[in-house]
Amino acid sequence: MNALIPRPRLRIAPGAVHVPGWLTLDQQRELVVACRAWASGPVPIRHTALPSGGVMSVQTVCVGWHWQPYRYTRTAGDVNGAAVAAFPDWMADLGRRALVEAYEDETAGDGYTPDTALINFYDGQATLGMHQDKDERSSAPVVSLTIGDSCVFRFGNTRTRAKPYTDLELASGDLFVFGGPSRYAYHGVPKILPGTGDPATGLTAGRLNITLRVTGLTDPGKEVPSQG
Ligand code: SIN
Ligand code: MN
Repeated sequence: MNALIPRPRLRIAPGAVHVPGWLTLDQQRELVVACRAWASGPVPIRHTALPSGGVMSVQTVCVGWHWQPYRYTRTAGDVNGAAVAAFPDWMADLGRRALVEAYEDETAGDGYTPDTALINFYDGQATLGMHQDKDERSSAPVVSLTIGDSCVFRFGNTRTRAKPYTDLELASGDLFVFGGPSRYAYHGVPKILPGTGDPATGLTAGRLNITLRVTGLTDPGKEVPSQG
């Protein structure tokens, strides 16, 4: 991404906002350090196994609640059985500040208490198909942060994974929030743009995406089936 060309903040759809360059380089570095630690355990990062028998090309590690298709649990039965790392207060704070920024409303973060983060690592070939985030029992907004290589992010509609959708580029430091009428919009990552990240973030290749979510779950250890 050419830093000389300013990228404006954009409301992609009602409730869906792209804020380019929201994270400072220091914040990105700190997030990379934290994500590296979570990637090594207690539940190591992995290519999530799909019910179809395949595996996702994206690698994922979770904090707070462990996600596997298509539910959240406190322990990672599909990986090593370990309890997932605790969700840190500083990450919930970051989520609240993200909502204030995205919605340009000082009160937008009030009462927002994300309790899980899905940390996705994309190598240059990884993609993520169009899907809805619907395993949460809360319709609170999803906060998405990008570090490292840019990607093409496809943001669609709430009815179908097909068109109409908008393709935009998410670059290192960018914030994307989808809530309100856009909370259940289909979205995906059709392409990573290798070599576009700044190694100063601590990530020399690939893309890190962190999504903060409110699960709406309260019962530790109890598996809750998907609603969808
Ligand atoms: C996701 O949909 O969970 C991740 C989106 C992204 O990588 O930007
Ligand atoms: Mn998603």
